[in-house]
Amino acid sequence: MSYQANFRVWRGDSSGGSLEPYQVEVNEGEVVLDIVHRLQATQAPDLAVRWNCKAGKCGSCSAEVNGRPRLLCMTRMSTLPADEPVTITPMRTFPVLRDLVTDVSFNYTKAREVPSFVPPPDLKPGQYRMQQEDVNRSQEFRKCIECFLCQNTCHVVRDHEENKPAFSGPRFLMRVAELDMHPLDAAAEGGLDRKRSAQEEHGLGMCNITKCCTEVCPEHIKITDNALIPLKERAVDRKYDPLVWLGSKILRRAN
Ligand code: SF4
Ligand code: SF4
Ligand code: FES
Repeated sequence: MSYQANFRVWRGDSSGGSLEPYQVEVNEGEVVLDIVHRLQATQAPDLAVRWNCKAGKCGSCSAEVNGRPRLLCMTRMSTLPADEPVTITPMRTFPVLRDLVTDVSFNYTKAREVPSFVPPPDLKPGQYRMQQEDVNRSQEFRKCIECFLCQNTCHVVRDHEENKPAFSGPRFLMRVAELDMHPLDAAAEGGLDRKRSAQEEHGLGMCNITKCCTEVCPEHIKITDNALIPLKERAVDRKYDPLVWLGSKILRRAN
């Protein structure tokens, strides 16, 4: 079954733009990215859109459909009301380059600010042993396809450009959480306190656990429940741990 549907697609660049109306054929089983491709092929050859896999795995085609952050390649037309125009806009949190393509370099900057896994000095690769429970925990976070829909949705930065320098966003707080929970990470032995850095360098305290990031994650990662809340609990434990408190006093006096 085919039908003609009405679309409103944001066209423009960093200097401004507007929603442009189009009528495009829709066929059974199609996703929004199919429509964008048909639009490029038939009416708007210069329409800019970023995509790669068309299988929900590369994380490139993030945008907003009827105001909701989504992957264009995983949003079936059959899930949208057929009698109303479908609005396709770029992610709101990041600067527009052109049409549906945004500049997501904010996320790469934040990624570089999270120090990577520190291998345990007394073990060689191949000697690492972990409980299955710890492996499972990391594996959930490792399903991330870096679509940045959670980053785009989080209200801390969505309407507050001024918060961007201090807040790394759910995707990268989740990365800090993953490393902090990793039983073999030796960062602390080298003097890197990941809990302290989550609070002081990545803005953990600005997250008020609204779970909006979790709701839009196409990989269904429980970002808030399994990463952010446990990280907050661990950071608070650290703050109120009498030994940590005593240690920091002694260190401060010694400096
Ligand atoms: S739970 Fe935290 S990180 Fe996720 S959207 Fe809410 S404030 Fe942002
Ligand atoms: S955590 Fe989910 S929403 Fe966020 S970047 Fe990864 S896959 Fe996308
Ligand atoms: S094109 Fe790869 S996730 Fe959509």
